[in-house]
Amino acid sequence: MSTTVTRQLEPNAAPHTRTTSAARQRVFSGIQPSGNFHIGNLLGAINNWVAQQSLYDNVFCIVNLHALSLPTTRDSLRANTQDLANTLLACGLDPAESIIFVQSDVREHSELCWLLTSVTQFGELRRMTQFKDKSAGRDENVSAALFTYPVLQAADILLYDTNLVPVGDDQKQHVEITRDLATRFNARYGETFVLPEPDIKAAGARIMALDNPAKKMSKSDATPMSAIALTDPADDIRRKIKRAVTDSGSEVTAGPDKPALTNLLTIYSLFSGEPIPAVEATYAGKGYGAFKTDLAELIVDALAPIQIRLTELEADPGIAIAAMANGADRAREYAAAKMAIVRERIGLTLA
Ligand code: TYM
Repeated sequence: MSTTVTRQLEPNAAPHTRTTSAARQRVFSGIQPSGNFHIGNLLGAINNWVAQQSLYDNVFCIVNLHALSLPTTRDSLRANTQDLANTLLACGLDPAESIIFVQSDVREHSELCWLLTSVTQFGELRRMTQFKDKSAGRDENVSAALFTYPVLQAADILLYDTNLVPVGDDQKQHVEITRDLATRFNARYGETFVLPEPDIKAAGARIMALDNPAKKMSKSDATPMSAIALTDPADDIRRKIKRAVTDSGSEVTAGPDKPALTNLLTIYSLFSGEPIPAVEATYAGKGYGAFKTDLAELIVDALAPIQIRLTELEADPGIAIAAMANGADRAREYAAAKMAIVRERIGLTLA
């Protein structure tokens, strides 16, 4: 992929000298520490981050400032941030391979967010589907942070001259507005930001709720039966899969008329690595019961090593804390270099 903006943030390289085509592609993605990390997050995002880790120049961020857009408390935010740091390491993100850090540790995110609000239109934020969903007609009461949320996300991405943003389907609109803001900024102040592309996989980009295949599996869903959490014990996983909604009929097949089975087959396929047609062939004529029993065991087996590693990391929180501190130091180098350019372009520097 080529971009029009010269890569300015290669550490140890003179600014304006290396282009993105000569360097490894930069990946940036983020996840909110809002509790209840689930298999949708794993299959739609984190597993892809881990699988592609050695191919790219990666920056992964725990976006605790975004988590402030909905009511939270000091204690829960801190606990959720530590849990998520442990979780990302347990899932296989490697601090030697990727920069992993907590958003508020790099203040440039907040600074760039404010500057980008000046090239953001009120109307384009009002049209964001996530704002419409989360405010759900209560826009007199929700925080202004929920409204400006996409601008902070744009700042996250643009600070690092990001080429690719690996995310689930629900984040596509946020990457699109990021491109719009970058384009507007570049037109007003001169070429400054790289235009990022969303990296959304064909399978797993939208894992649906187990109790309602018309709804996305979500961290904020109050119904425990809707999602499998990474930390669910084996018996809970078995119970949730057993109770998962199915479609009419009894054939284990995917298709537009079978949204529930399509979702369960997608989960099976991603955890087993077998394509959906092969899974359909295995369960031809066997009915939903046999398929669900095996699916539950597959998930139990896939999560077990992550859960073991998570328990080890929980016993020694200093491992994740040190990794995050080191990640923030490295991220800050990029972010500070970029902000120096941005400040100068906007006219915030006098000399
Ligand atoms: P968040 O924390 O809601 O979700 C983290 C990642 O998980 C994906 N995801 C899913 N994928 C498939 N099926 C699902 N049911 C499902 N639920 C969640 C999300 O698409 C996401 O990739 N706004 C972002 C965080 C963010 C960010 C960024 C992302 C802040 N700055 C910059 C990318 C780049 C969010 O709330 O993700």
